[in-house]
Amino acid sequence: MSTTVKKVTDFLGSNRTLLSQRSLYDNFKSLLFIYFLVTQSLKAERHLRARGILTTFKEFYAWIAQRVIFLLLRLPSARAKVKAEMDKAKLDIEQSLCPQGADVVRYLSLPAEGQSIEWILSEMDNMDQQSGTLEWKRGKISGAVYHGGEDLEKVIVAAYQHYCVSNPLHPSVFPAVRKMEAEIVAMCLRLYNNPNGAGTMTAGGTESIIMAVKTYRDWARATKGITEPEMVIPSSAHAAFDKGAAYLKIKVHTIPVDSVTRKADIKRMKRAINSNTIMLVGSTINFPDGNQDDIVALGALASAYNIGLHVDCCLGSFIVPYLEKAGLAEGSNGKYKLHPFDFRVNGVTSISCDTHKYGFAPKGTSVVMYKNAALRRFQYYVYPDWSGGVYASPSLSGSRPGALIAGTWAAMQYMGDKGYLDSCRDIVTCARNIANTIASSIPELYILGSPPASVVAFGSKHPKVNILEVGDMMLKKGWHLNGLSGPPALHIACTRLTVSMTDTFIADLKDAIKEAKLTPSGKGTMVALYGLGNSSPVGPKMVTQLAEAFLDTMYKA
Ligand SMILES: Cc1ncc(COP(=O)(O)O)c(C=O)c1O
Repeated sequence: MSTTVKKVTDFLGSNRTLLSQRSLYDNFKSLLFIYFLVTQSLKAERHLRARGILTTFKEFYAWIAQRVIFLLLRLPSARAKVKAEMDKAKLDIEQSLCPQGADVVRYLSLPAEGQSIEWILSEMDNMDQQSGTLEWKRGKISGAVYHGGEDLEKVIVAAYQHYCVSNPLHPSVFPAVRKMEAEIVAMCLRLYNNPNGAGTMTAGGTESIIMAVKTYRDWARATKGITEPEMVIPSSAHAAFDKGAAYLKIKVHTIPVDSVTRKADIKRMKRAINSNTIMLVGSTINFPDGNQDDIVALGALASAYNIGLHVDCCLGSFIVPYLEKAGLAEGSNGKYKLHPFDFRVNGVTSISCDTHKYGFAPKGTSVVMYKNAALRRFQYYVYPDWSGGVYASPSLSGSRPGALIAGTWAAMQYMGDKGYLDSCRDIVTCARNIANTIASSIPELYILGSPPASVVAFGSKHPKVNILEVGDMMLKKGWHLNGLSGPPALHIACTRLTVSMTDTFIADLKDAIKEAKLTPSGKGTMVALYGLGNSSPVGPKMVTQLAEAFLDTMYKA
């Protein structure tokens, strides 16, 4: 009897343990589920608050439509058609990028013996002739080439030659290069009114921006424990912010700019800020249409939420700091006014400035600046235990070309304050002439916003004028303008080379509008590319494929 009782008690006991283990497991599962539900709802709430119900619905609709069309495109007949179209487009890209013809020689393996300098230079001349490399000298290109003049070119080449093999990764070997880099940063900090701030040089605007994004990510993690960082940017912010966010795994809330002023929508940006936000972005000036965001309002937001504010002056570079001195900051006819944008604005914590744009320094140079040295620390990368020794570098690259630093230092010394002031005056006067002439004498077009500096963007307000068609017509006249989407428009970034071409530009533009209105081809590059991007839910996917084909073609030897 007693053994039976014991057996029953044991059975009940073990079952109780089992039961309590199970209920523990069930509780754990429920807790996990609740955790998942709460975190996902919070994420959804943050997303919805940032984008708004309508935009979220539109995004969802576009996502569904894309999925359905992708499924349809998987049908064999559709797949074959898309492939044929893509192959044709790829061939077009190849033919336009790679020199063709009987005289073209392709060097696909090393020469058995080294060539002479005479041979090398003459072969470069041949390549220039065959591919039209020197077209930019005609001054019909928007931005791209920020040429400071032939004298400055000689100065840069001399500096480059002097420091040809130098590398600032080894400052004890190349102390002069270290000194020049520090001085370039110091000069830029003064230009942007923060002499006690800090910064580094980088390889260009994109790297400066990516470095700033990394800085805020690491700062927010260290000081606030943010592990799922987010940033809020206006839709006019440069793609480099999205690129940085993609590399560094940061969620981006892109807020549409005001459709008339083309400035960041401060109310909507504020709504998108949440406890995971690490930074805001504003531009002076932005790439697409050359307008300036309200940096004072963005700075107030950044201060209130204790987050970073990066002001992208990559393009404004050596133009916007000189507008006031040039007497152009107030604008004209109530337009083109420049508002405060530098470190004097409360809340501005970093600024990028491209020396290789209006600083006329060699390509591959930019400066990223911070409010103080403590913030710059978060940009550094240090690996103390590396088997190759302690590794420390300030930015993305390891070894860097000291020659470019020397070229930049030389360009800044050669230009001086007066040189930059004069070039600012010439270039901005050219941009304003273009904007004023379009506004007063080309009724088919309108100017996007009120651009204060060197870039002017224009769209069509005439039902029969497709602005992208105008872009294609301008290309036939030798003008390489930038095509924009949202809204469709063209922009010209004026440089020293365009200054003397203002009248030709306006005359060509008027002719191009007439031709686009009367004889539209509907088949030009801009119409095809930008039209495709906006034409259907799969447009962006197609454009991505074309862009990838374009990148592949860059490496076709
Ligand atoms: C406003 C702005 N930011 C960033 C960049 C990126 O600069 P980069 O092409 O030197 O990387 C550009 C380039 O045009 C720009 O206009």
